[in-house]
Amino acid sequence: MPRSPIKRPPPGVDLSGVLREVDDLPKSLNSQSLFGNDHPLEVEVGSGKGLFMATASVANADHNFLGVEIISKYAAHSAGRLVRAGVSNAIMISGNAEPLFAARIEPGSLEAVHVYFPDPWWKKRHRKRRVLNETSIPNYSRSLRVGGRLHFWTDVLDYFEQTIETIAQIAPELGIPIPEKEVEATHELDYRTHFERRSRQHQIPVYRIHYEKRET
Ligand SMILES: C[S@@+](CC[C@H](N)C(=O)[O-])C[C@H]1O[C@@H](n2cnc3c(N)ncnc32)[C@H](O)[C@@H]1O
Repeated sequence: MPRSPIKRPPPGVDLSGVLREVDDLPKSLNSQSLFGNDHPLEVEVGSGKGLFMATASVANADHNFLGVEIISKYAAHSAGRLVRAGVSNAIMISGNAEPLFAARIEPGSLEAVHVYFPDPWWKKRHRKRRVLNETSIPNYSRSLRVGGRLHFWTDVLDYFEQTIETIAQIAPELGIPIPEKEVEATHELDYRTHFERRSRQHQIPVYRIHYEKRET
């Protein structure tokens, strides 16, 4: 399904508190360096239009949320949504999540990593471009505290099955996949993400799991 067009927020909207470029980030990314407090930190990889970032940060005011989005227009759009939500516990980063997890996020520091409807990269030779791959999975796992969660939802069965298999092989400390239930949606914003809404409205099945990191 093609993606619908997206707009940056109008120039008058001040995004300075909610949108950062990778070059402007502190060296080590944690709640203290980003938000000036020690609240649990959750990171979303590939925020798209930012529905999760806005709803989760409003619903969990005592947690901090960091959204990382590689397409700058989408990062700005998501940041605009955070401004409208009036939250002070969420920031968008415009950039690639992978090097941040490889080098900038402290091991054992995160409460949760959220990966919703990552780009499928259908062709076999493109699979290494998937955001859940053999390099990134150990990095996500290392970033989590014991008991921390990795959420993964997709409508691509092959991606879902491959990821479960890869995690079992290379990140057994994440334990077993725990199914997550579909939530009843009575309102446009009752979906976890924009892509979840789109899949469900087109009667496309969605596969939802999370992992909880174990002591090793
Ligand atoms: C298919 S969209 C899903 C968006 C959103 N999670 C949702 O469910 O509506 C995947 C998003 O991940 C972003 N993305 C892909 N690779 C990324 C990376 N390495 N770092 C950050 N964002 C990435 C894409 O630009 C895109 O916006």
